[in-house]
Amino acid sequence: MTHTLIDLRSDTVTRPTPGMRAAMAAAEVGDDVFGEDPSVNRLQERLANLLGKEAALFVPSGTMSNQIAVKLHTQPGDEILCEAGCHIYNYEAGGPAVLSGVMCRTIEGDHGILDVSQLEDKIRPDNEHLVRTRLVCLENTHNRGGGRIYPLEKIEAISQWARHHGLAMHLDGARLWNAIVATGIRAATWAASFDTVSVCFSKGLGTPLGSALVGPLDLIQRARRIRKLLGGGMRQAGVVAAAALYALEHHVERLADDHRHAQILAQAIAATPGLQLIPPEVETNLIWFEVDPRLGNATEVALLLRSKGVLVHAAGPQMIRACTHLDVSQAQAEQAAEIIHRTLHRVVAIV
Ligand SMILES: Cc1ncc(COP(=O)(O)O)c(C=O)c1O
Repeated sequence: MTHTLIDLRSDTVTRPTPGMRAAMAAAEVGDDVFGEDPSVNRLQERLANLLGKEAALFVPSGTMSNQIAVKLHTQPGDEILCEAGCHIYNYEAGGPAVLSGVMCRTIEGDHGILDVSQLEDKIRPDNEHLVRTRLVCLENTHNRGGGRIYPLEKIEAISQWARHHGLAMHLDGARLWNAIVATGIRAATWAASFDTVSVCFSKGLGTPLGSALVGPLDLIQRARRIRKLLGGGMRQAGVVAAAALYALEHHVERLADDHRHAQILAQAIAATPGLQLIPPEVETNLIWFEVDPRLGNATEVALLLRSKGVLVHAAGPQMIRACTHLDVSQAQAEQAAEIIHRTLHRVVAIV
C-alpha cells in the first residue's frame, strides 16, 4: 500500500499557494540594495506600522534577522541573557559567538518561559574581569518550549526590569503571528516591550523565505549595513516581499486552523501509551512529545511513522516534534493522529 506522506516535521515545509505565486509573479520590483524595490518598501512600511516601530528591514532568514539584532545591541566581549532552549543560542550555528563575539548566559525557563525573578541576579557587576551584560533575548512563541506563548505580563515585567538596568530587549518572534492569533493580543502590544523584533514569513505564514527586523530608525539603518556585511543585501527582492504581503493578508487568521489541528494530534498523542506531551498543554501549532524507550528512540519511532505515511522530526534522543501548517488539512491532521495512535499503541501492545 502506498501513502501520501503527511509532513508534520516543520511549518517551514510549506509551498507557496497558487494565490501567493500569482502575487509573486505580479510583484512590482526594483533594486532593494538601492532602496528602490516598491514591494519591499511597502512590506517594510506595513510591518513598522503593524508592530508600532519606526522602521523595518526585510532579510532572507530568521537567523539573519536575529543575528543582526545581537550585533546591533552588543560589542565583542558583551553578554546576552537568554533562555536555555532558545533558537538564537541553540540553532543559529553559534552566531552570537562567531558574528558578534558575545557570550550567551543561558537560564532554564519553564518550557521556554522566564520569570523576571530568574534574571534579577544575572547582571554582571562593573568590573574589568567580567563581561558586560547588554541584552535580553526572548522567544515568542517558544519553539523548543513546545510552541508556548509568553504570558504578556511576564514579558512586560522583564522589559521594565531590563530598561531600568539599561539592557536592550530583542524578541525572536519567528512565530509571533501564532501568539497574536491565539491570544488576540495585537502585534504592537507584544512589540512594545522590545527594542527590536524579528518576525518570519516562512513558518506559519507559508512564504518560500523571508523575515524582517523591526525597530527604531537609527538601529534599522545600522541593520542595513550589517545585512550587507552578512551577504543579505538582495536585489529584486520584491518577488519575495510580495509573497509576505500576500501572507499578511491571507494567512494570518487561518493560523487558528493550525492550532485546532494541533489539538487533534495532541489528543491522540496524549491517549497513546508510551507518548508524553511536553509540555502537556499544546497552545499553538507545535507539538513536542517524548517517546518511552520501550517504543525505541526518537529516530526509530520517526522511521516507523514514516513507513505508515507520517513524517515527524526526531529532535532529541527521545524527543519528537510534530507541527501543523498551511499544507496540512483537517482531514490530514485527523489521519495522522489516527496513524500515530494506531501504530504506536500497537507497538506497546506487542512489547
Ligand atoms: C524560533 C525560531 N527562531 C528563528 C528561526 C530561524 O529562522 P530561519 O530558518 O529562517 O533562519 C527559527 C527557525 O525555525 C525558529 O524556529
